[in-house]
Amino acid sequence: MNVTEAELVAWGRRVGREVRPPVFIGLRGPLGAGKSVLARAVAEGAGVCEYMPSPTFNLVFRYEVGGDESGGHSAVIHADLYRLRSPEELAGIGWDDVAGDEEAIVLVEWPERAGRHLPQERWEVHLRCAGGGGGRREIEVKPFGGPPPLPGFPARAR
Ligand SMILES: Nc1ncnc2c1ncn2[C@@H]1O[C@H](COP(=O)(O)OP(=O)(O)OP(=O)(O)O)[C@@H](O)[C@H]1O
Ligand SMILES: [Mg+2]
Repeated sequence: MNVTEAELVAWGRRVGREVRPPVFIGLRGPLGAGKSVLARAVAEGAGVCEYMPSPTFNLVFRYEVGGDESGGHSAVIHADLYRLRSPEELAGIGWDDVAGDEEAIVLVEWPERAGRHLPQERWEVHLRCAGGGGGRREIEVKPFGGPPPLPGFPARAR
């Protein structure tokens, strides 16, 4: 599947609105592929309205999201493991609490840096430049284990 930035953002917002935490979503793809664009769209859909800086030095940011009508509570975690030198460094950033957060939508860029420390139940979204101009991206969305359902592609850009 091949998407424009507007289509990717529209889908991301829908994911943020509709997915039931806890859910872990790994965002894969080269530098500039659109992982942060997608992470911000999901967070926005989930109700995060503050500015989301790149988690480049501070590898993890957690955003509280107001309780829903059923009194539930949730959060969005945005992590970027690009600067992780080895999976052993995960302990230092509180990885078990990140990957095991029971109430959060967890969005992790460069998840492959975590090696075998990735949760068994997760989604992996792979973004690649599609070529041909116009800023399109090839997107692949794959479940591992039995993660909660995500709204399907394509979403209409609004
Ligand atoms: N179809 C598209 N989807 C997503 N981003 C696009 C698309 N077309 C162009 N872009 C642009 O590509 C850039 C993607 O940047 P982004 O910071 O999301 O990359 P990233 O994958 O997070 O990179 P990094 O690994 O450095 O964190 C943005 O400037 C965005 O405007
Ligand atoms: Mg990024």
